[in-house]
Amino acid sequence: METEVLVKQLKQKIEELTTVIEASKRITSTLDLSSLLRIIMQLATKVMHAETSSLMLLDETKQELVFEVVEGGEKGEMIKEIRLSVNEGIAGWVARNGEAVFVPDAEKDERFCNKVDMKSGFRTKSLICVPLKVKDKVIGIAEVINKLDEGTFSPDDVSLFSALIDHAAIAIENAKLYKDLQGLFLSTITSLATAIEAKDPYTKGHSERVTRLSLAIAGKIGMSFKEKERLRIAGLLHDIGKIGIPEGILAKPAKLNNEEWGIIKQHPAKGAEILKPIKQLEDVIPVIRHHHEKFTGGGYPDGLEGEEIPLGSRIITLVDAFDAMVSTRPYRPAMKRKDAINEIQRCKGTQFDPKIVEAFLACYEYE
Ligand SMILES: [Fe+2]
Repeated sequence: METEVLVKQLKQKIEELTTVIEASKRITSTLDLSSLLRIIMQLATKVMHAETSSLMLLDETKQELVFEVVEGGEKGEMIKEIRLSVNEGIAGWVARNGEAVFVPDAEKDERFCNKVDMKSGFRTKSLICVPLKVKDKVIGIAEVINKLDEGTFSPDDVSLFSALIDHAAIAIENAKLYKDLQGLFLSTITSLATAIEAKDPYTKGHSERVTRLSLAIAGKIGMSFKEKERLRIAGLLHDIGKIGIPEGILAKPAKLNNEEWGIIKQHPAKGAEILKPIKQLEDVIPVIRHHHEKFTGGGYPDGLEGEEIPLGSRIITLVDAFDAMVSTRPYRPAMKRKDAINEIQRCKGTQFDPKIVEAFLACYEYE
């Protein structure tokens, strides 16, 4: 009999440990926060033998707890819109005090508030509620409700649940750091784009417009999220090489002579050269280098053709040409939108990839 109990306990410990290992493995392999939190709560529900579980994040300005994950049944969606003040319920108590609680019988606990049960028709019996902490600051709470088999949770379960939820807190912190870094990176890129335009007053807003329309085309041809992010940066920075071109040529209020054209044509390769030391831009650089290639060859700097030209470059080259046509230049007025669209159509299959021309025209379908 005693051996049986030991085996059972051992089996349970193994299951618990496997869950914790599983959770940390998944945390390091993904950065999508919401699915990660859902995975952690699913695992927690399973290993704690709980009927349901939820994770709430603290809205600091409103001092309210908001549901992020609700596990265990279709009632979850119903209660997701409920917000709890930090002054109510056991969840509120945990958020205020930053301490885990184990409640064997919810109805006998005076902190218990049945607001969520009323809405869902669920009946909370026992629960464990733990705080989610990042550097000693409470950022939310997580709870498991109603033990499925042996009636109630044990105080031992509290430490296991806390260990799992610590992983969730780390994941939230990592995702936040990642987002902050991405934000910092993008704002640096945007100020670089502004610096390019400061040199060439006639192209103000050009990079932003090229990026916007390029992304619309990317959406039409079903580019992935990653490809679109790459295209966004390439769009903003495609003319960065102009930083190395004399202003006298860039802002010349007349047509350029051959020698000047030769210098202008260096800007895609110069741009690629400038960005080369930035490791994060490795995939973006070829898109920038080839944004003046032609679909049938003969463009610059490398005279690539067809699919040899990166897809992102084939998009930017078209949008770039379109935006240039509809913008006023020192030596000519802006072309009418309709005429510019016709011109793009005329160059379908020669200067531009026919597939991209189609997607471009689809973006203008309802204009
Ligand atoms: Fe360019």
